[in-house]
Amino acid sequence: MPQPTSIITGASRGIGRAIATELARTHQIIGTYRSRADAAESLRAETGCDIFPCDVASRASREALLEFARGRFPALDLLVNNAGMGPRERRDILDATEESFDELIATNLKGPHFLTRQAARWMAERGEGRIVFVTSISAYTASVNRAEYCISKAGLSMSVALYAERLAGSGVKVFEIRPGIIRTDMIAKVEKVYEDKIAAGLLPQRRMGEGSDVAKAVRAIADGLLDYSTGQVIDVDGGFHLRSL
Ligand SMILES: NC(=O)c1ccc[n+]([C@@H]2O[C@H](COP(=O)([O-])OP(=O)(O)OC[C@H]3O[C@@H](n4cnc5c(N)ncnc54)[C@H](OP(=O)(O)O)[C@@H]3O)[C@@H](O)[C@H]2O)c1
Repeated sequence: MPQPTSIITGASRGIGRAIATELARTHQIIGTYRSRADAAESLRAETGCDIFPCDVASRASREALLEFARGRFPALDLLVNNAGMGPRERRDILDATEESFDELIATNLKGPHFLTRQAARWMAERGEGRIVFVTSISAYTASVNRAEYCISKAGLSMSVALYAERLAGSGVKVFEIRPGIIRTDMIAKVEKVYEDKIAAGLLPQRRMGEGSDVAKAVRAIADGLLDYSTGQVIDVDGGFHLRSL
């Protein structure tokens, strides 16, 4: 039996790397990176996966990735849209720049939206496939010092619903994973602030998340355990989304 195939964007570090490490046990993987070739090389050495440079914000770069994947794989079983970024500088919504807005929308929303379109067409040819979007609790939580991030993730959440609806009849299943606070480079500068908030009761499950927590949710999807749940949102957030009184 040939191994199932997967593209994981932003696999060089953080959550994407944890997903790649988990899936490498069963899947043939192309893991992408933007600038950290060194980190991607170490992933390749550890897991044996293929790596490929791809800036998801660039159409030419996305097309090059798909062309590379079509050359490597007979079919694509799984796309994980994980690559993303926070604002280079957290600024109040009244001061944040249009440049930062454009960069985050291009990277976190437009990139995965159009990469998915290309991958979905390929999957639909065979009538089978699974697509995962890594969004965030920021899709519905207002952080006024990174509005552009929240807006990009809220938009991406709608992208999930749209693709899930459109592709359901083509045998392609689409899922959203909403991580909460996950220990990666992305939150390194504010890790202590978050640790203090968690200790003070921010999360019902009183610990910060790890990349492996997200990877386990992707594993369940990759193994087909949620195949009758297209469009489902999976919160991987220690219960952050719960309301209590
Ligand atoms: N950490 C959290 O608390 C948290 C919470 C909710 C959601 N998320 C989401 O989870 C995803 C992964 O975040 P993370 O915490 O693992 O971040 P991270 O540690 O900063 O890693 C980001 C990854 O994305 C890649 N990347 C960044 N911009 C890219 C671009 N334009 N094109 C292609 N790849 C790009 C990076 O590549 P290089 O290594 O080459 O730079 C890296 O592999 C993101 O979508 C993020 O929004 C994170």
